[in-house]
Amino acid sequence: MIQENHIDSAIKELFGNLAFTQDPHGLYDPLRYMMEIGGKRIRPRLCLITYALYKETFGDEVLYPAAAIEVFHSFTLIHDDIMDKADVRRGVPTVYRKWDENTAILSGDVMSIESYKLIAKAPVEVLPKALALFSKTAAEVCEGQQYDMDFEDMDFVPMADYLKMIGLKTAVLIACSAKMGALIAGASDHEADLLYKYGYDLGIAFQIADDWLDTYGDPKVFGKAIGGDILNNKKSWLMTRAFEKASEETRAKLLEAMAMPISTEKEKAAKIAAVKAIYAELKVGEEAKQEIIRKHSQSLSHAAALELQSEAYELLENYAKNLLGRTK
Ligand code: IPE
Ligand code: IPE
Ligand code: MG
Ligand code: MG
Ligand code: MG
Repeated sequence: MIQENHIDSAIKELFGNLAFTQDPHGLYDPLRYMMEIGGKRIRPRLCLITYALYKETFGDEVLYPAAAIEVFHSFTLIHDDIMDKADVRRGVPTVYRKWDENTAILSGDVMSIESYKLIAKAPVEVLPKALALFSKTAAEVCEGQQYDMDFEDMDFVPMADYLKMIGLKTAVLIACSAKMGALIAGASDHEADLLYKYGYDLGIAFQIADDWLDTYGDPKVFGKAIGGDILNNKKSWLMTRAFEKASEETRAKLLEAMAMPISTEKEKAAKIAAVKAIYAELKVGEEAKQEIIRKHSQSLSHAAALELQSEAYELLENYAKNLLGRTK
């Protein structure tokens, strides 16, 4: 097994060494910008952790695939920010705001191709499986993003549909990260599948927490503007649950709030306040926190089923604990 402090240094070194310095600059500058401002890098970390469970040292065979997942993730964010009209990400202007939409589209495209170049560096013995997992996941993320947009135009989305949507847009990539590390380390299919489930449930908890932070987070820490989900009529966990438990009368109020105009800053603030007042009345913020804890324990039950040595289990436990306490 590889110790936790080696994982930190491997992540630092990996992203320090990735350079995207090709021409034309107009295409690659945004890509470098996204990679250099960095994020939490939870996905490559998870990939390295599940590899660390079975191996003694890190090598390129897992470092490149871990990087592939982060590059793919960062690409989805560039396009997501156009779709969600988001001005700030990771505490800095989003790519389409710093440059323009066309730049963000094309740099995103080349970034997704860069991620394939990196995943293709997986060892030949596991390459077919690694590529199949990566491609299936990538398509699912797009499917989830489409549902996410479709739901903006719907008044009411059942909780089961919301869970399916976030499963696709967010959980599968975290699940894929967990499975990828195990796959490359030569774990059994049974182990790799349990790690997938562990990552999936954590991913669900992670997105519910993201939805909570979008309304209640501290923008300076979160690195994104607060209230974007409300302004876009997103069917976040909070909105979905609010509709589910609201009386007819409160549902009507929610629909009214969703129809409020958002042309000026004042109108935006009024809409956010109106929706937040209904959330407070229904106590959906508190419920979201409970749901996050429930999904978190569910994920740990899959980790426990791996029957690992205690030190190895603790790697998975600590990783999950850090995600649970996220404020950004
Ligand atoms: C943002 O992912 C998109 C979601 C799935 C919620 P992260 O919260 O991991 O973003 P970064 O990479 O740390 O910026
Ligand atoms: C993100 O969902 C999912 C993907 C980018 C695939 P969000 O739209 O909630 O992510 P943020 O909040 O912008 O990071
Ligand atoms: Mg989005
Ligand atoms: Mg978004
Ligand atoms: Mg969000």
